[in-house]
Amino acid sequence: MITSRRAFLRFGAGAAATTASWPLKAVAAPPRFEPARGRDSDGLIFLYSNENAYGPSPKVADTLRATVESANRYPRLHYQDLIEQISGAHQVAPERVLLGCGSTEILRMAAFAFAAHGKQLIYALPTFEAIEHYSRPVDAKITGVTLTSGFAHDLDAMLARASEGGGLVYICNPNNPTASLTPRSDLENFIAQLPTSAIVLIDEAYHHYARTSGMYASFLDRPIDDEKVIVARTFSKVYGLAGMRLGYAIASPKLLRQMSSFSNQDNINAMVTQAAAVALNDSDSTRNFIQRNANDRQEFFNQAMARALKPIDSHTNFVMMNTFHPAEEVIQHFRKNNIMIGRRFPPMDTYIRVSLGRPEEMLAFWRVWDLLPFSKNIMHH
Ligand SMILES: Cc1ncc(COP(=O)(O)O)c(C=O)c1O
Repeated sequence: MITSRRAFLRFGAGAAATTASWPLKAVAAPPRFEPARGRDSDGLIFLYSNENAYGPSPKVADTLRATVESANRYPRLHYQDLIEQISGAHQVAPERVLLGCGSTEILRMAAFAFAAHGKQLIYALPTFEAIEHYSRPVDAKITGVTLTSGFAHDLDAMLARASEGGGLVYICNPNNPTASLTPRSDLENFIAQLPTSAIVLIDEAYHHYARTSGMYASFLDRPIDDEKVIVARTFSKVYGLAGMRLGYAIASPKLLRQMSSFSNQDNINAMVTQAAAVALNDSDSTRNFIQRNANDRQEFFNQAMARALKPIDSHTNFVMMNTFHPAEEVIQHFRKNNIMIGRRFPPMDTYIRVSLGRPEEMLAFWRVWDLLPFSKNIMHH
């Protein structure tokens, strides 16, 4: 049933996509990793998509307002400037930058280019589902590898699978939904042993929130000399631009050429081409967002500890925790109380994922948590 105008519009867009003449089998359903909200957002608290609850920064918002006037023009003349801004920020040649309509488009391009027609996609269970979602309809051989007990990627098992048949290996670090890290040194060993028939895509969507420790280093800040590696980043998280849809990949020109043949034409909207450059240079705001997130995360853990809960250590702007009860029941409890928390992430069927919101939103979260019938004795159920 179509419950609102917005849901109707989403539905319409999905239907249109199926009639496009892709060289590959079209994706039939709207992506299920971002469920439709189903009704107007008024009164609902959104702790479910790992957005920046504070962004965008005032400077970025001003730039967005200023770009409205040029909405009648196609934006493609701005793409090269944006590519140069990004390549400058990471000190790589512009040929090593590919833009995407969100990093979701980057993931789709990689799936189509490197996993289609019986090639292998190796990914973690659970992880961010987009790459699996886009690999399935193009007949990839899908191989899910359960995370380790410490919620890192099981690189030994992933290597064993890649050694059998190459393909595309997706590493989300920090990982969504678990907020956990896979150690840098393990990743380096893993990549060094991968066969040349394999490509590894490292998704650094939550890079800015990763706690600084020897455990983590970005493959852009500290690159390795290996042409198998693609790194994906997004403007949807710390830069607070999820609604504007911009992501990018940094990789060898050869891999990017293969991916870009699957990109939409004019895939980057006119407003974000200029706002993104401002966001990249607005380092005071970025630092501020990171600090606020660190405070909100600390407060979440304080509240959790006061209730004898033990969330998984978080290196992101969201937290995952075991409720020892069916996650769906907990999700519905929050939904009835006007709070949307993260979706289910099989096989972690008793865990919930909570995006960090503003302090007043998190107070509401804990008020509703305390209404759960089992909130007082969660471990002894
Ligand atoms: C790990 C990861 N990668 C990519 C994305 C997609 O982000 P976007 O398409 O908004 O850049 C998300 C969104 O939540 C994510 O969690």
